[in-house]
Amino acid sequence: MFNNFKIGSKSCALMVETGQNREPSRDEIYHMGLATYRDLYSKSIENPEEFWEKHSEIIYWHRKWDRVLDDSKAPFYKWFVNGKTNMCYNAVDRHALGNRRNKAAYIWVAENGDEKIITYDGLYRRVNNFARALKNMGMKKGDRAIIYMPMIIESITAVLACARLGIVFSFVFAGFGSAALADRIKDSGSTMVITADGGFRNGKIIELKKIVDDALEETSTVNTVVVVKRTGSEVTMDEARDVWWHDVAKDSPEAIEPEWVDSSDPLFILYTSGTTGKPKGAVHSTGGYAVWTANTLKWAFSPDENDRWWCAADIGWITGHSYIVFAPLLLGLTSVIYEGSITFPSPGRMWEIIEKYRINMLYTSPTAIRTLMKFGEDYVRAHDLSSLKVLGSVGEPINPASWKWYYDNAGNYRCPIIDTYWQTETGGFMLAPALGIGLPPLKPGSATFPLPGVDPVVLDENGKEVADGTKGYIAYRKPWPGMFMTLNKDPERYVKAYFEKFPGMYNCGDYAIRDSEGYFWILGRADEVLNVSGHRLGTIEIENAVIASGGVAESAVFGRPDPVKGEAIVAFAVLRNGNESSGEAVARIRKDIRKQMGPIYVPDEIHIVGSLPKTRSGKIMRRVIKAVALNQLPGDISTLENSASVDEIRDAIDSFMKESS
Ligand code: PRX
Repeated sequence: MFNNFKIGSKSCALMVETGQNREPSRDEIYHMGLATYRDLYSKSIENPEEFWEKHSEIIYWHRKWDRVLDDSKAPFYKWFVNGKTNMCYNAVDRHALGNRRNKAAYIWVAENGDEKIITYDGLYRRVNNFARALKNMGMKKGDRAIIYMPMIIESITAVLACARLGIVFSFVFAGFGSAALADRIKDSGSTMVITADGGFRNGKIIELKKIVDDALEETSTVNTVVVVKRTGSEVTMDEARDVWWHDVAKDSPEAIEPEWVDSSDPLFILYTSGTTGKPKGAVHSTGGYAVWTANTLKWAFSPDENDRWWCAADIGWITGHSYIVFAPLLLGLTSVIYEGSITFPSPGRMWEIIEKYRINMLYTSPTAIRTLMKFGEDYVRAHDLSSLKVLGSVGEPINPASWKWYYDNAGNYRCPIIDTYWQTETGGFMLAPALGIGLPPLKPGSATFPLPGVDPVVLDENGKEVADGTKGYIAYRKPWPGMFMTLNKDPERYVKAYFEKFPGMYNCGDYAIRDSEGYFWILGRADEVLNVSGHRLGTIEIENAVIASGGVAESAVFGRPDPVKGEAIVAFAVLRNGNESSGEAVARIRKDIRKQMGPIYVPDEIHIVGSLPKTRSGKIMRRVIKAVALNQLPGDISTLENSASVDEIRDAIDSFMKESS
């Protein structure tokens, strides 16, 4: 427990442990908090074998592993070699068959206020019923299934039932469109899609089954579609292929034996954007991932047995996989999950949920914070948020102004902000203030220090470590248990994209600075990847989507700094023929991208121009477009072929600015 947590003279927040009747000095706190952290951290780096031997005990091993790490085929690492375990058994059975049987695993809240409380025993029964259904439908270890579902309990049940049987699942965020879904079905080679008739968001229904039907027109591997009835909207059921969840997942007392899989057997594939147009399927392990997610949640947030944890992400992203589903269940916690928008039906929705369910730990994104900030403090003050003890942030760098607003208003100057820096590939938090092992004085905007086992370094272009205070690439010198094992069907790209630039190290693609006190500050992506509302989107992927909408000859996309979303998508497009007006073309492109790729890919601005700046060899100069559009100096333009195109970009932006002001 802590008190007297406040912003100090150097904009640093100080954490004070209770049990003292005076306020310790900043130095005392610094040393007190960090001594335990430093001790554990050094042990993890100096003696990883011993460290992980102890920390692997956070899960049950059906067969204990022989070795902590096999790095003989680096960078294809194997953690907890020859260990046998099962994620579902660890997440559910241990609690349901033990003394957490009657404890709530989830409090599910719908946008319209409906709620369901699912105990560990209830989750166990649901998971067994669905695992039995999967088995009856012929699904077995190593098979692949797509889960394309809204934020409902059945999504969690589906994930856990797959894990129980060793079926490798790939969850596709329900905001993705049919082309994005089809790509993921094809790449994963899935034979089953688990979905719902639809989902609710902002008071509207998103018709998921229809999107699945469209995607399946493009693919050939799927032979079964399981559909949850959620919205009651009309759907077409293909008799040979589609079944209702409630028809197959019948209640029965029969338990399904968990499949004891190898620690390195894949648990799931999660697609994320990279620098090419093709999403990367990050393949995560079972044992290492379980050990990593459970330990990192404990270290960073230090949840108590009776805390209520709300990770306000979507299950479809890595944040949801790791910190809605797996880590909280592995620790036997109670989570609140919410199906819907945090500003619907009112901008006070998030605060209302915190008050109603007496939530103790809130984990959300800077975009959500900035969105709520826009609506003002009155919505926050209207609610009693005194249950909150800890606040978390993820997905993007949090700017100090938002940090402070979150700290002052949501946390009422009492709650530390745990800024967690990590990625789809890392499986769990990498840098974060570790409340559970010694909280450092916080600096708004810095994710502070590495968690145990994480060995980050900031490098220059040539792989040389830069001096403190200098911007460089952040890379990791050591593997960690939660790291992805490869890219699905593309081990060469795994090596090339992540391990080639700095041999022997994992290059995560972000810029960072380490300050003179050792704090890390993440400065954003160093590659052609945008971060829009905490979602990672490849510029080439969006350009391809603009072009795929037809009638577009070429396109260039970049991110414009945005006060709410972090980055907004700006697209330039050259039309193939002049018959369509710019207005019509823009409306059509928007509509197509929304349908094919999903709303998050729709550019905020689309400008139709006659040509794009190119080099003499015909390469589009995105760097120049971005600089001109942002009214910055374009740098070296000696290779520019068509200088008139630069004026066109400038004119397009000028007239857009005039129109929108
Ligand atoms: O650029 C970093 C940013 O989000 C990227 C990872 O995106 P994704 O794989 O979709 O996972 C998001 C949720 C973990 C990173 O490369 N990022 C994530 N968290 C932070 C962050 N940037 C700064 N601070 C963070 N806390």
